[in-house]
Amino acid sequence: MSGAVPVIEVRELKKYFPLPRRYPAQAAARVHAVDGVSFAIGRGETLSLVGESGCGKSTVGRTILGLTRPTAGEVRLDGVRIDNLPAGRLRPLRRRMQVVFQDPFSSLNPRLSVREILAEPIANFTLARTRGELAERIAGLLEKVRLPADAAGRFPHEFSGGQRQRIGIARALATEPEVIICDEAVSALDVSVKAQIVNLLSDLQDELGLSLLFITHDLAIVEHLTHRVAVMYLGRIVEAADRRSLFARAWHPYTQALLSAVPVPDPAARRRRTILKGDVPSPVNLPTGCRFHTRCPHAFARCRSEEPELRPVGDAQWVACHLDARPGG
Ligand SMILES: Nc1ncnc2c1ncn2[C@@H]1O[C@H](COP(=O)(O)OP(=O)(O)OP(=O)(O)O)[C@@H](O)[C@H]1O
Ligand SMILES: [Mg+2]
Repeated sequence: MSGAVPVIEVRELKKYFPLPRRYPAQAAARVHAVDGVSFAIGRGETLSLVGESGCGKSTVGRTILGLTRPTAGEVRLDGVRIDNLPAGRLRPLRRRMQVVFQDPFSSLNPRLSVREILAEPIANFTLARTRGELAERIAGLLEKVRLPADAAGRFPHEFSGGQRQRIGIARALATEPEVIICDEAVSALDVSVKAQIVNLLSDLQDELGLSLLFITHDLAIVEHLTHRVAVMYLGRIVEAADRRSLFARAWHPYTQALLSAVPVPDPAARRRRTILKGDVPSPVNLPTGCRFHTRCPHAFARCRSEEPELRPVGDAQWVACHLDARPGG
């Protein structure tokens, strides 16, 4: 990124939720959904945020988008703090950050035609002045996501899951954003369709210089798309690395376990399989010390008492772990 201002930056982001009222005995308890997360995304760059269900990935995305306010920490767009803006000042900035969700069917209004779905954001931000301009924009969007021009007159239920996700991407592109947050955007799709949508996103990124935050529980699907990866566990980043370092020599025992669950086509290259024992602990009553120690095959005394900070272990790799050396060498 050569010192350029990142498009998106989060600093020490925290988001704690109050517990539902049915737990009055724990009135002071909080769900530690996000608990001190920092990262930056450069222009035209993809960062993948990876981790098991409930580790706080979507909450990070929603906080960046301003859909929920952080408990502490900062969100910056192009160097400018946006987490503390009043709604009226945030609204115009929302044009620059869009989101694509997992389930395009529930996020697309079934009563609107594709034309109407795409016209909405264009109208919201007054990006077309005449009917002709609007039609031109809609045609351009369909072309970008490789849908036929006659898709405009059809309704969401007339499309397959992959095509609906293309409509979701077209809607996100309608406001000419700089950043797209893809929250499990391909997770519900069949394997071959997944690859097509990942390729489409990658092509769009090259074409438009988009920055992508790619949120997923599935490390395998980001291997050919992402520039960098941040691995989350219980609200914190435990490892951050460029793609090559992460897939070649994952450092953190948790990342290694996630990777070992990824099927490798070549049996000679099969990774040693690490099965994680136990369940993810509750984000309400966090383990002391390293949050991963209850499931870590390498945990020792210090891990139970002292929380590890991210530290560099290579040119482009950081890890939060007390072990002196990478497990497995
Ligand atoms: N509005 C909310 N109120 C209370 N708790 C919440 C709220 N939103 C999320 N949480 C809790 O915060 C934690 C993180 O949730 P989040 O949805 O960010 O995880 P995630 O990594 O996106 O999971 P998944 O892979 O299942 O989508 C979870 O324990 C969740 O139950
Ligand atoms: Mg989620």
